[in-house]
Amino acid sequence: MKDLLPTLLTLALALPATTSAAAIHALRAESQSDGCSKTHDWAGQTKEFKLTSDGRERNYRLHLPKNYKNGQRAPLIIAYHGSGGTPEDVEQQMRFSEAGVNADMVVAYPAGVNKNWQGPTYATKGVSDKNFTTDLIASLTSNYCIEPSSIFAAGHSNGGGFVGTLACSPGHGGQFAAFAANSGAFYTDVDGDKRCSPASKLTPFLEIHGTKDDVIPYEPTKDGRGGPLPKIPDLMDRWAVRNACDRENKDVSSPAENVQHISWTCGADSTKGAVQHYRIDGHGHSWAEAKSGVDGTKVFMDFFKQNAKK
Ligand SMILES: *[C@@H]1O[C@H](CO)[C@@H](O)[C@H](O)[C@H]1NC(C)=O
Repeated sequence: MKDLLPTLLTLALALPATTSAAAIHALRAESQSDGCSKTHDWAGQTKEFKLTSDGRERNYRLHLPKNYKNGQRAPLIIAYHGSGGTPEDVEQQMRFSEAGVNADMVVAYPAGVNKNWQGPTYATKGVSDKNFTTDLIASLTSNYCIEPSSIFAAGHSNGGGFVGTLACSPGHGGQFAAFAANSGAFYTDVDGDKRCSPASKLTPFLEIHGTKDDVIPYEPTKDGRGGPLPKIPDLMDRWAVRNACDRENKDVSSPAENVQHISWTCGADSTKGAVQHYRIDGHGHSWAEAKSGVDGTKVFMDFFKQNAKK
């Protein structure tokens, strides 16, 4: 650590004056040692770990994919559970630990403090899950061989909303290559337009939402349990604006009778599908499964693969 200090100071001095402490924090994380020299003999399994972040003990499950090889860089997914949920719940819902679904990406399933994530009023006060996320990524990249340009955020409900919070965070979102949420509990007072400054011009973002969602309604008419909610079409439109997508020519299709898929082409490089939305008619507040019209597991995996380092 000692001989790293001059590097850190140089990096800190090279930053624009407006750079937040959080950005320096992220940078500090990036300059930590690389986990590619470490060896692990448990590919294909999931184990439980602890990590101290902001002086608080945090827990997470970690899945090393079947094809994990020491010294070979692997993508990383961080998957956030819903309010009241657990790492085990989201591991079962998203199925990213099944070799048939995912044999290549490392997956971390962190636990929220009191089973909630930062943002809504019901979350535990004083907890920064943004800091925790940055600390988790730093710990994982220094212990495992992770491809830093292929780190993805996935979440359901409160966890999906927190994925949106990360996407909006200049200091903590830049570590991710893409963001995907299912039944996302987004709150306009947390990451509405005035509080959303993505780290990159292109911030790939995908959301799946049911029109019969009675917890986080598709077109809410009043506040949710955790605060004011956006209309989902408005939220998607804002992501299209932030990503400089062509909003006149969005690609609209119907992959199933009750499903509308909207895909935007975005940014200076006309990136197809950088912003995507699946509206599932008649679907409630639960993980999208093939029987509900959209296989959320496959949609998330395809989106992450599409945004992985080529
Ligand atoms: C998050 O990290 C920043 C920068 O290290 C620190 O200033 C802040 O106090 C942390 N937040 C919490 C809630 O501990």
